[in-house]
Amino acid sequence: MEGIDFPSMYRPELFEFEGIPMIHYVTDNWKNVQNFKARPDDILIATYPKAGTTWVSYMLDLLYFGNTAPERQTSLPIYMRVPFLESAFPVIPTGVELADNLPTTPRLIKTHLPVQLVPKSFWEQNCRVVYIARNAKDNAVSYFHFNRMNMGQPEPGDWSTFLKNYMDGKSVYGPWYDHVCGYWEKKTTYSNIHYMFFEDMVEDTGREVERLCSFLGLSTPSEEKERITKFVHFDSMKENNMTNYSDVKVMDFKISPFMRKGKVGDWKNHFTVAQNEQFDELYKQKMKNTTLQFRTEV
Ligand code: PPS
Repeated sequence: MEGIDFPSMYRPELFEFEGIPMIHYVTDNWKNVQNFKARPDDILIATYPKAGTTWVSYMLDLLYFGNTAPERQTSLPIYMRVPFLESAFPVIPTGVELADNLPTTPRLIKTHLPVQLVPKSFWEQNCRVVYIARNAKDNAVSYFHFNRMNMGQPEPGDWSTFLKNYMDGKSVYGPWYDHVCGYWEKKTTYSNIHYMFFEDMVEDTGREVERLCSFLGLSTPSEEKERITKFVHFDSMKENNMTNYSDVKVMDFKISPFMRKGKVGDWKNHFTVAQNEQFDELYKQKMKNTTLQFRTEV
């Protein structure tokens, strides 16, 4: 596939939308997003941005279609195989159009929407939802570098400016705290959510593939699961032009690659002692009412 140029893309501004800071590239198709007709076997991959969406998308794609549709692996970039539901970027079809035209069953669909904005048909159809969360500090670092290199994201400023905004919930998709806690609370009333952690995947990817299979009711043979675990390794995905976003010209890999480090604990290379103390203090307040726990190292 040729690289996709987005000549008409420019850095967007954040604005308040349905109570959340958003950019127009993910709100322009809002009516169709909200009216999206989910099917009972759809699988929704939901994350706060930069939590491991692409990693789990590729795991699921290989689990379901690695053998039955191998040509998809070599001809279609992951973002065409797993449409980004709310996206409305110039040049490529909207996420809703891509999802509506997916030939696969199940359909794998990605979203970054906070739980309260997920189109209601997913809940009505009792769709399976795979949520991936990543500790707030590494998530912030990854988001900062992503915004630096992606001209479709707001200008992040320097690290301290970005971090302050992130702590204030002024990032695209709003506060990290509300996002991760929202899906965590949803689990108490909606059992079809598998809640995963980026740190667990780094610690033992094979075990997390295993857990995904249990949730999905897949009886994938162990050799196949081992093969998939190798395919989704960071180094392998970084080399793979169908998973590393290298054809998306709106991203400037000279500034930072999409597959950047894939580590737990890179925050230590970014946070000053003072930033870390302020962050921890705010974190304690924001997370005081939840049982949700994160690891910032493994
Ligand atoms: S996006 O743009 O929101 O869809 O980004 P997302 O895919 O959620 O997150 C990108 C970060 O995930 C890392 N990543 C991985 N880490 C380890 N192993 C594998 N296989 C892997 N695949 C993606 C990617 O490198 C980004 O994290 P950082 O910390 O920036 O490296």
